[in-house]
Amino acid sequence: EMGYRARLRVWRGDADSGELRDYEVDAEEGEVVLDLLHRLQATQCPDLAVRWNCKAGKCGSCSAEVNGRPRLTCMTRMSLFGEEETITVTPMRTFPVIKDLVCDVSYNYVKAREVPAFSPPGGLEPGEYRMHQRDVERSQEFRKCIECFLCQDTCHVIRDHSENKESFSGPRFLMRVAELEMHPLDSHEEKGGNRPEEARGDHGLGFCNITKCCTEVCPEHIGITDNALIPLKERLADQRYDPLGRLFRR
Ligand code: SF4
Ligand code: F3S
Ligand code: FES
Repeated sequence: EMGYRARLRVWRGDADSGELRDYEVDAEEGEVVLDLLHRLQATQCPDLAVRWNCKAGKCGSCSAEVNGRPRLTCMTRMSLFGEEETITVTPMRTFPVIKDLVCDVSYNYVKAREVPAFSPPGGLEPGEYRMHQRDVERSQEFRKCIECFLCQDTCHVIRDHSENKESFSGPRFLMRVAELEMHPLDSHEEKGGNRPEEARGDHGLGFCNITKCCTEVCPEHIGITDNALIPLKERLADQRYDPLGRLFRR
């Protein structure tokens, strides 16, 4: 297979202003979009800002939008696009730009800190916890998250609505609340907490209208909506309908 000259249109700029610029970059068989960004950096734009680390879809650093779709650039094969096609690469839209393709994702760290941590059962030392295999498997899926924040980027609740960021933690952190709520050893409630109520009040669960866009872009194929957000909504509805039943079930 012969290489070709690929057409890239890349957003260049900073927090104040920016524009899309066109480039032609050599492409080789089997390459991914991140390879071309690196070649662009090496040959034409030494100051191009692009975040990456593993080049294996595991660190979650190289998130951007390719033709408007949130993607890991290291896992996006050039062969998805025609050789004549112009491929547009822009920074994630939901977070403020620092420079070029690099955004300030600190919103996510703030939201992460707002979720009360796993609360271990009283009277047990680490190493003495026992769980059923089915409970382990349930949270295993959520633990595959690589924190790429593509789900956060795509969710319409905050994508073009910065004003909602204050009250909405986004699919990734609502999923974290769900994971803890499903954890059979989590004793947050015994200490006066209530994770479904916190999901509603502190993390904006009610903003989510189950569009599933988050699930569609997740590179780890986590069932964010079906396995975390919907069950969390159901738990909230159950406990509001039958608050004592909840206590007895636990
Ligand atoms: Fe990325 Fe999926 Fe984790 Fe969201 S849930 S941050 S899309 S890996
Ligand atoms: Fe947003 Fe996902 Fe809900 S995209 S609206 S969090 S299902
Ligand atoms: Fe690590 Fe893309 S560089 S996920």
